[in-house]
Amino acid sequence: MELALTATLLALLPTALQQSTPLPANLSVTRAWARSLDSECGRPHVSGRILSGQDATLGEWPWQVSLREEGQHVCGGTLIAEAWVLTAAHCFDQKQLLSAYSVLLGSISSYPQAEEPQELREVAEVIIHPEYLPETSSADIALVQLASPVTYSDLILPVCLPKPGDPLDHGTWCWVTGWGNIDLSIPLPPPFTLKELSLPLIDAPTCDGYYHENSDTPIQEPIILEDMLCAGFESGQKDACGGDSGGPLVCDVGGVWVQAGVVSWGSACGLPKRPGVYINVSTYATWIASTIPGLDLHTENSSPRLAGLFFPPVLLVLGLLGDTFAPLRLA
Ligand SMILES: *[C@@H]1O[C@H](CO)[C@@H](O)[C@H](O)[C@H]1NC(C)=O
Ligand SMILES: *[C@@H]1O[C@H](CO)[C@@H](O)[C@H](O)[C@H]1NC(C)=O
Repeated sequence: MELALTATLLALLPTALQQSTPLPANLSVTRAWARSLDSECGRPHVSGRILSGQDATLGEWPWQVSLREEGQHVCGGTLIAEAWVLTAAHCFDQKQLLSAYSVLLGSISSYPQAEEPQELREVAEVIIHPEYLPETSSADIALVQLASPVTYSDLILPVCLPKPGDPLDHGTWCWVTGWGNIDLSIPLPPPFTLKELSLPLIDAPTCDGYYHENSDTPIQEPIILEDMLCAGFESGQKDACGGDSGGPLVCDVGGVWVQAGVVSWGSACGLPKRPGVYINVSTYATWIASTIPGLDLHTENSSPRLAGLFFPPVLLVLGLLGDTFAPLRLA
């Protein structure tokens, strides 16, 4: 994330993790799950945004996770259920073993000190969207199953997924969060505090128009595809950057945080008419719901399970992926 402001060092409060109340055993799993998600997703217990482009506050974005490869932060991600994380497909390297990956949760720093709150989980499974195309970044979305579920607390809570009718359209102001570079090739310095930035949404056609300016790509050949959206400014400057990939763009919908986008790519960072490009989560809400057993899309009238209506997704487990896999790319 490119931020003009000098980082303010946050006093990292050693917050006692609150255990969430166990669900009553007499509720059916699906119902209990829907309930817990409905009441808990998208509602941090802490709030404190003041200006765009600044350090986040502990507990402010409790769904933000860090995806690690060999212990190094490589991408952001979001907790969407007790054992599931949403991130970008391009975060994974097909040559890597599944055991190389882990997920850090409940931390405001991507490299927390031993005494700071944090949870680390191994990865049980990585599900890359079956239509992911590295060449165009279409369907650059992936689900990660944690080896064991987390317990929700003040610092670990799920984000809500969009439901049809959520007002996540052009001009809506949202927030992107991440531990990415603070400039094209300048990594986030210690103490690696999560950054937050407020940006307006830009629809795919408008963004596609920007990207065709000063570009060799013919106008009839889309650059920003239908499953993408952009966020940022025509003038550039404030943007997501390398290392923010896979992380969230979240919007306040009636007091609940809903994830509109997954950070996917950009042309460098912060250039004019080159806003950050995100996968539009709405496009894949059904895929996510049908892939994660028991996940409810935070809809008001969500009685019939959508999952049964869809073919089971093709599960591409890491290591079995084809050979058309992109290297990790910036943003
Ligand atoms: C579940 O158990 C609680 C407490 O024992 C009880 O109050 C509630 O009515 C029960 N609910 C159902 C659906 O049986
Ligand atoms: C994201 O996709 C949904 C559903 O396809 C669409 O209604 C919405 O306008 C898109 N968002 C943006 C900002 O383009």
